[in-house]
Amino acid sequence: MRPTQAPYPATRLRRVRQSPALRGLVRQNTLTVEDFIWPVFVRSGDGIEEPIPSMPGVMRRSVDKVVEAAREAADLGIPAICIFPYTGLEERTEDCAGAWDPDNHANRAIRAIKAAVPEIAIMTDVALDTYNINGHDGFVEDGQIVNDRTVEALVKMALSQAEAGADIIGPSDMMDGRIGAIRTALETAGHQNVMILSYAAKYASAFYGPFRDAVGASGALTGDKKTYQMDPGNSDEALRLIERDLLEGADMVMVKPGLPYLDICRRVKDSFGAPTFAYQVSGEYAMIKAAAQNGWIDEERVMLESLMAFKRAGCDGILTYFAPAAARALAQS
Ligand code: PBG
Repeated sequence: MRPTQAPYPATRLRRVRQSPALRGLVRQNTLTVEDFIWPVFVRSGDGIEEPIPSMPGVMRRSVDKVVEAAREAADLGIPAICIFPYTGLEERTEDCAGAWDPDNHANRAIRAIKAAVPEIAIMTDVALDTYNINGHDGFVEDGQIVNDRTVEALVKMALSQAEAGADIIGPSDMMDGRIGAIRTALETAGHQNVMILSYAAKYASAFYGPFRDAVGASGALTGDKKTYQMDPGNSDEALRLIERDLLEGADMVMVKPGLPYLDICRRVKDSFGAPTFAYQVSGEYAMIKAAAQNGWIDEERVMLESLMAFKRAGCDGILTYFAPAAARALAQS
């Protein structure tokens, strides 16, 4: 219940805004480097850092360069890095076998980071889109994205990542039943301490456009993902998905995209109190970058304000391409 307030002038709400000290004293939410998971893109080759045009400042890195990036992130105090593989059309197949190959570039990156930067937590992406000839997160049969056969493949993919040393498995595919299946497989294989951060409430969003360029899926994708990702008009369904995934053994849950879905973040946190993350996705990042490059907004201030919004909405952490820049800005402020 709202506390009673005396009428003006006994109450002057501006009093506590007078100085940085007072504003700091009454501030409810804070943003720290410990809030960030940094998504990075890994590709084949050696010594490569290749810019992604639709995500200014973001690179596709070969494994050796991803290790350097992880070192830099750990030195900045960033607690976790999330590995996404880039695959060219020639590396994609209908059976998606690359997804659970122990030596695919994502798994090689996990091993190399574990060896060189053991203090950073490593998160993965579980979905077939980065290995699928048609860019979908699941197998396609007669034009349909099939659920149960896909879940079997996702389990193999998740196990290969756990074997490589991943700390946090991130199923981003939105198939039904995958969290329970992955959890059972991890327990059975002796990976009891491997966590699952479920992309539980993931919307069919146009804000993923630049990411699909980054992972090489834009040219591959046929159709859209509306039969498995959520309809942006829905809110209650997000709660059902989150509850389902928690009951199946997810340790942490995610809402995605981020800023346009802060109402969902708040409902999820209030309803379940579980560790809740949001993904500030590629399109959100690209919009801020593009406006800043045009001189229309102050990049650093908008970056920090957008990240603070997630904390205010109840999130415990944020996946953001801004992680290193935000870590540097916070260290200076
Ligand atoms: C797919 C996946 C996507 C993102 C993360 N994992 C794209 C999609 O669902 O098409 C998007 C991330 C971003 O836009 O930054 N498994």
